[in-house]
Amino acid sequence: MKQPSAAELVAAARAARDRAYAPYSGFRVGAALLTEQGDVITAANVENASYGLAICAERSAVVAAVAAGSRSFRAIAVAGNGPDPVTPCGACRQVLREFPRGRELEVLCAGESGDALLTTTLGELLPESFGPEDLTGGPGTSSLDPRSDQ
Ligand code: THU
Repeated sequence: MKQPSAAELVAAARAARDRAYAPYSGFRVGAALLTEQGDVITAANVENASYGLAICAERSAVVAAVAAGSRSFRAIAVAGNGPDPVTPCGACRQVLREFPRGRELEVLCAGESGDALLTTTLGELLPESFGPEDLTGGPGTSSLDPRSDQ
């Protein structure tokens, strides 16, 4: 299957952003996650009258992808309000770090329109990070290791 270009992945994130539910902050975010298999899973932020329950676009995309059967990701594009690139929040960085290609994940950060694009990796956004392999002696050595839950 043909891999989408960076521009196509950003366009998918922007299209998802149009479906954001953000009546409280007005800050609409879309995300497009490219899986190892070449599928693009999109999601948007979903807020709540109980403000602290807002769910970010990036984490929504991860949850949708895992529910659809994918646990390995090549890239994620994120698009927020305004012309400047929006980077994933700290919580989303940690959630993205969980999966096999965590540190190598390409992160494409964009605004709602325009050409400004910040291209980085999760390893750069979350250096010296904590992950599943830090829980025990190594992957699969403990029932606490999420990778043993195949
Ligand atoms: N938000 C995201 O969806 N992703 C981020 O990386 C940053 C923040 C959302 C959460 C909330 O609905 C709104 O943006 C304002 O923080």
